[in-house]
This record gives sequence, C-alpha cells and structure tokens, in this order.
Amino acid sequence: MDTLAETSSSIRLGLPAAEGATVWLTRATDEWVGRLAGCLSAEERDDIARLARSEDRAEAAVSRGLWRLAAGEALGKPALRVGVERTPYGRPLPEGLPRTRCDLGVSHARGLVAIAVGHGVRLGVDLGHRYSAVPEDAIAQVVEGITGPALELIPDPAERQMLCWCIFEALVKADGRGMHLSPGMVTAEIRTLWGWNMARVAGTVWWVQRLRLQEGYLGALAVGAPCEDLTITQLDATDPAG
Ligand SMILES: CC(C)(COP(=O)(O)OP(=O)(O)OC[C@H]1O[C@@H](n2cnc3c(N)ncnc32)[C@H](O)[C@@H]1OP(=O)(O)O)[C@@H](O)C(=O)NCCC(=O)NCCS
Repeated sequence: MDTLAETSSSIRLGLPAAEGATVWLTRATDEWVGRLAGCLSAEERDDIARLARSEDRAEAAVSRGLWRLAAGEALGKPALRVGVERTPYGRPLPEGLPRTRCDLGVSHARGLVAIAVGHGVRLGVDLGHRYSAVPEDAIAQVVEGITGPALELIPDPAERQMLCWCIFEALVKADGRGMHLSPGMVTAEIRTLWGWNMARVAGTVWWVQRLRLQEGYLGALAVGAPCEDLTITQLDATDPAG
C-alpha cells in the first residue's frame, strides 16, 4: 500500500437488527484499502501515512475504515461523517452511539482484520498469530489468569499461549481500560474451546469465546452476556488469501 486516495465508498456491512454479536473478517489487501479509503477522515489518513511499514498502513486503513462503516450504519449516516471520541484509555467511540445500544471492536494481526459489532451487547475482540512476537514475561503474567481444562485440548504450547493472550486482550478491550488494567485483574476459566466461558475483569463478569479462524491465526471475542447469535462472516469469500 503506498498512499490513500480520497475516494467514495459504497460498501455496506449490513448490520443485523436482532440482538447479538457479529464478527466480520477480511484481509488488509490493497483492494480493501482502496474500497475503504473514502471512509477515512483527513486526520486518519495523515496518521496512517506516518506508519513506516506498508503492511501496518494497510491494516490500519482497513481497520479504521471498517470501524467507520459499522458506526455509520448503526447511526444511519455516511461513514465519513461519524464523529470519533477517544476514552482516556484509548478506546474509540462513535459520537452519539452508546456502547449498550451498539458496541464496536476492532483488531488486526498479520494482515487479517476483524470488526466486531454487538447489538445490545458490549464486546471486545482480539486477533493474534501463532508466530506473533509477544514479550515472554508479559505472556507468562497473562497466562496465569487464563486457565481451564479445555486449554489442554491445544497440544501446541505456542498456539495455547497466543490464544490465552487473545482472550486476555479481548477482555481488557471489552472492559475498555486496555493496558491500564494489570494482568492480575483478569481471570477466565476455559471449560469449552468453542463455546462461551465465564471470565472476570476487576470483579465484573464477562463471557469469552474462541473465534474460528484460518490456519495460523488465533482470536477471541469477549461479551457482556453470552449471546446465542454469534455470526462470523468472511467479508470477501472470494479473496484467495481468506
Ligand atoms: C489497545 C490494546 C488494548 C490492544 O492493542 P493491540 O492488540 O496491539 O492491537 P489490536 O489491533 O488488537 O487493537 C487495536 C484497536 O484496539 C482499540 N482500542 C484501543 N484502546 C482500547 C481500549 N482501551 N479498549 C478497547 N479497545 C481499544 C482501537 O480501536 C484500536 O484500533 P485503532 O488503533 O485503529 O484505533 C493494547 O494496547 C493493550 O492495552 N494491551 C494490553 C496488554 C498489555 O500489554 N498488558 C500489560 C501487561 S501484560
């Protein structure tokens, strides 16, 4: 990805009206960058242009673009016109959209981008890759609080650790305090690998589930209440990398 041109975007995610959570996934390809560039504000385009690596610029553009697309649909206005507030902890919030009505979460890793939308349910999402470099001491601290028999079903220790990391990150993002929470405040008991598991962040109960992703990627979604309707959609099924 080289530069971001100001174009118009006519893509729609099609947010479901019913209560529940949906996760859309896509690769941060140049095609997606081109399709979403028109959703971004001038300030966002400048911020993205300052990123040194082309891969990071593409991921940031797709992630911000999808966030705006979802926020715009929820608010019934063009993506570009969505006002963005940041909490003191860094979480972006669309102006005029309470988290309890419609909540948004984004994550990106190794060229894969996820946007999660919760209707009537607060959430946090996180993606990682089997070979992502995460500091050893940080992992060790985080893994302590994420326990449970279902983790033993993952034979590869690196994959298991990265899943625990994603679970932790999804929870601290759902809470909204992100890196301002210490690992000791986050616990989860993983009893089922592909269903909802109870977790606690600073005493508050959340539910967390592993996401089914393509080979090499790990991911988790944390929600305020376990929703029966969790849909995971690959945005462009014809994408050869997807
Ligand atoms: C932001 C954070 C929560 C996740 O970042 P990450 O995994 O590096 O990156 P991801 O791609 O998964 O997510 C980035 C997105 O998270 C969102 N985000 C940022 N701060 C957030 C917060 N406090 N709460 C929820 N979401 C947040 C933003 O939408 C951001 O996208 P943007 O930069 O385009 O706006 C991370 O910085 C963090 O707090 N990690 C906690 C782990 C940690 O280091 N703990 C300390 C000891 S182990």
